[in-house]
Amino acid sequence: MTYFFPSGFEWGVSTASYQIEGAAELRGRSVWDTFSETPGRVLNGDTGAIACDHFHRYRDDIALMAELGVRHYRFSISWPRVMPEGRGAVNEGGLAFYERLVDCLLEYGITPHATLFHWDSPQALEDRYGSWRSREMAQDFADYATVVVGRLCDRISHWMTINEIFCFTHMGYGVNQVPLHAPGTTVKTAKETWQTSHHALLAHGLGCQAIRAASRQPCSIALVDNFLATVPFAETPEHIAAAQTAFHTTGTNGGIVFPALTGEYSPLLLERLGSDAPDIRPGDLETIHQPLDAFGFNVYSGSVVRAADNDQGYETLDFRESYPRLHMPWLWVVPDGLYWGVRHISETLNRPDLRVFISENGCAAQDEVNSQGEILDLERIFYLRQYLQAAHRATAEGYPLTGYFLWSFMDNFEWAWGCDRRFGITYVDYSTQQRIPKASFHWYADCVRENRVV
Ligand code: FCB
Repeated sequence: MTYFFPSGFEWGVSTASYQIEGAAELRGRSVWDTFSETPGRVLNGDTGAIACDHFHRYRDDIALMAELGVRHYRFSISWPRVMPEGRGAVNEGGLAFYERLVDCLLEYGITPHATLFHWDSPQALEDRYGSWRSREMAQDFADYATVVVGRLCDRISHWMTINEIFCFTHMGYGVNQVPLHAPGTTVKTAKETWQTSHHALLAHGLGCQAIRAASRQPCSIALVDNFLATVPFAETPEHIAAAQTAFHTTGTNGGIVFPALTGEYSPLLLERLGSDAPDIRPGDLETIHQPLDAFGFNVYSGSVVRAADNDQGYETLDFRESYPRLHMPWLWVVPDGLYWGVRHISETLNRPDLRVFISENGCAAQDEVNSQGEILDLERIFYLRQYLQAAHRATAEGYPLTGYFLWSFMDNFEWAWGCDRRFGITYVDYSTQQRIPKASFHWYADCVRENRVV
């Protein structure tokens, strides 16, 4: 196999504001500032206050991106950098930064793809009404989207509303336990948690409407989600059917990607949730189910399912200790998760019309600079090559997969794991802010140049 992608396939890299920008003193506080400053929440007490100092070094970073050869870059805009209080007054300096960043990308012929929310919500809104616990958050997000799009729509036509609703709602609010992500609120019932993700879905819906209304040029709008792809144990009709059924109730799929793409929570999930289901007001599902131009799928792993003779008709198989895994507890290597995720959107969610791009894929590895000054991250190449082959299969079978953004362009602040876990294809020496392309950087440059998996 030569693994050539269709012409026009979009090769890119991905990052997020809190994880790379730094320059915390030039913006409002976000919930991740508070969370990471709270002892015990982030490994080694790391914070995103400086991170990769990308705010000051973006020109050099974009020059390196141009060397990589990618023509697409996905980054996120920091809500508290644009609106320090979360609503109302706008920080000119914040908007001016994103203008400079985007102008620099355009100078290099790199198309900007902007995510409006990648977890760093304004602390002011946490203080005011508890962030996603309140429905007000959805309207405040839409107002913020109006400001950003109104200002940047002459330069940006690819928008994503929200990144991974599960991670800042279900992981940000814990039922009777301390959650792993900001804002780090402990709630008493699962229903309260489902209410936060429902509010985030409303924010997505109102955000879509706000973007369309504010953009003075035609634009593409996407939601980005890390739904959990169920992979059939073997590709036989019975195991495929099992994987399709399991897709509803695996992770939070039935309550996030289902309503966003079909306009309904999965009935199987609602049945399972019973009184833990969120309150849904009349009209909410219409608001949430906005027309989308594309869907961004963040994929790192997957869940393996087989048909079983039990009530639900399937079982989910465990990964044993010796199953291949990279440098995160959840990073089981399941390349077919990429292929099946794309296929589930077309078939299980019955959205064959919806264009999909991989908005994140990558892995953490124990990267070190060797005596020749190189970082030989062979396991990252091994991992990426298999996922790209799965992406190739999806395109070869005619599924509408049109692009791939590698996570991440450079090492960065990996949330609760701080700077300890390195996902970049560029190594960052945090003591000097030196950037060193890893072996995977050069390998990926070859893939991009040749439009195939090398
Ligand atoms: C995803 C996040 C991204 C990064 C990767 C490793 O869940 O969207 O910010 O942390 O995982």
